[in-house]
Amino acid sequence: MQPIAQGMDEALRRSAAEVKRQTVDDLFTANPARAATFQCTGAGITLDYSKQLLAEEHLDQLLELANDASLSAAYSDLVNGAEVNITEQRPALHTLLRGTAASVSPAKHKAVNATLASMRHLVGEVHDGRRKGFSGLTFTDVVNIGIGGSDLGPRMVSRALRTATPKLRAHFVANVDPQDLQEILTSLNPASTLFIVCSKSFTTEETLSNALRAREWLLSGGATPAAIREHVVAVTTNVEAAEQFGIDPTQCFPLWDWVGGRYSVWSAIGLVIALQLGWTAFAALLEGARAMDAHTLETPPHSNLPIIMALLEWWNTLYLKTETHLVLPYSQRLSAFTEFLQQLTMESNGKRTQLDGTTSQHPTAPVVWGSSGTIGQHSYYQCLHQGNRGFSADLILPLTNGEVDHVAHRKLAANALAQSRAFMIGRSEAQAQALAKARSQDELMAAHYVMPGNHPHSVITFHGVSPHYLGALIAAYEHKTFFLSRLFNINAFDQWGVELGKVIGQHIDKILESGQDIESLDPATANLVSAWRALNP
Ligand code: F6P
Repeated sequence: MQPIAQGMDEALRRSAAEVKRQTVDDLFTANPARAATFQCTGAGITLDYSKQLLAEEHLDQLLELANDASLSAAYSDLVNGAEVNITEQRPALHTLLRGTAASVSPAKHKAVNATLASMRHLVGEVHDGRRKGFSGLTFTDVVNIGIGGSDLGPRMVSRALRTATPKLRAHFVANVDPQDLQEILTSLNPASTLFIVCSKSFTTEETLSNALRAREWLLSGGATPAAIREHVVAVTTNVEAAEQFGIDPTQCFPLWDWVGGRYSVWSAIGLVIALQLGWTAFAALLEGARAMDAHTLETPPHSNLPIIMALLEWWNTLYLKTETHLVLPYSQRLSAFTEFLQQLTMESNGKRTQLDGTTSQHPTAPVVWGSSGTIGQHSYYQCLHQGNRGFSADLILPLTNGEVDHVAHRKLAANALAQSRAFMIGRSEAQAQALAKARSQDELMAAHYVMPGNHPHSVITFHGVSPHYLGALIAAYEHKTFFLSRLFNINAFDQWGVELGKVIGQHIDKILESGQDIESLDPATANLVSAWRALNP
């Protein structure tokens, strides 16, 4: 894609300057219908963006930009297997994992289906007790060992969809700090615990260290080396490395280099989800994502949910200069959703180098943060309402909540809607003065009651946190991320920035071990190495 044309950029700047002189409230007064027209729905997910700071004419400009940037064509290229990951010379076909555009890549689709069949076979064997632990017990617990994309997606889905009576209890270990694994293992029985070692590369230090510790735990718990085969499976593109590590190749589920780690929850990386919740739930998750793929493929930009989400973020970040983006799910089930999105969006679009190798002159991925409502309201929302940093936000509100206490569910919704309204209207000086007066307080107190409001945000609603809607919601954010990468003119599918820390980490690990070569470090790091070594001789 060509960088944004100068004329369009200038027009958007002028629009932003103009709209910043207004409030969202003014925009509603000018056009009360915007509550109905500034929204779109795809695969059962509704995006209400009427509280964003932009008017119809600005939306039209952004849609023109979507057209200039050929976003719809770019998405077709993505799902049809174009080599979008130019620095690693590969396509990014996570959409194929849920069967989208399957006819375009028959060989790959066959491999996907074969893997789904073998996952389903394992799930059936474990659930009906044909596959047992070393002492003849059926499996009760499954531990997923992985990090980044091999952890955050399945962990988030597992938490979102968990039931009181899971088929297997699911646990997740990511940190190289042994405490993480240890805390989980203390409550488990080696004879009935299954491990999934998830690593696309099978070289990730954290995952391999935890897998070694898990194997030791099984052996010290009574498993014979031969019985380990029944207790440890792997998901990887690197079967050779898994085999060298000691995992039986028949127990390895394949992954492919054309699936990015942070886009891999739909692959065998999601095995833990199927083991915890059953095959029907996993299939429904894929089906929900496929429905969002179809919406994205078939819907023109003006009502295309992921395109609108991307355009809004582009507008907020570049023109309204919001500094960070909050994702605030009003659902405890979605408490790991923001953390998942941090990797999806910041590892994908946190880049300064454009496709042609030149340096971007504007900010790319915003910092994504947040937590499930209402918890943040009693912590950082003060800063949102009265601090002086700009932000944009997505409030996510599932409209139903299963069996949960109806009154509590209503209170959660009331909080979400109240915060959304407060973000919009704030409290004016006149209102603050009236409040102070009503409380028999002076002008000074009135000043402390003022809140600017006018914080651009969307509200995302859907029926409830089911596999279908969750699949659709994740896919919407995946596609938003891709569209933004096209607007930013960057590659969403590599992560060279992660490598630097890994390489330096290996070097420092050797120095911490031997004390040699300390002079190769900068003085500050060398001091810290010495302090660590003094206590760890
Ligand atoms: O942190 C970088 C990263 O490469 C992520 O992109 C990836 O999801 C994670 O490490 C785990 O990698 P792997 O699945 O190869 O162990």
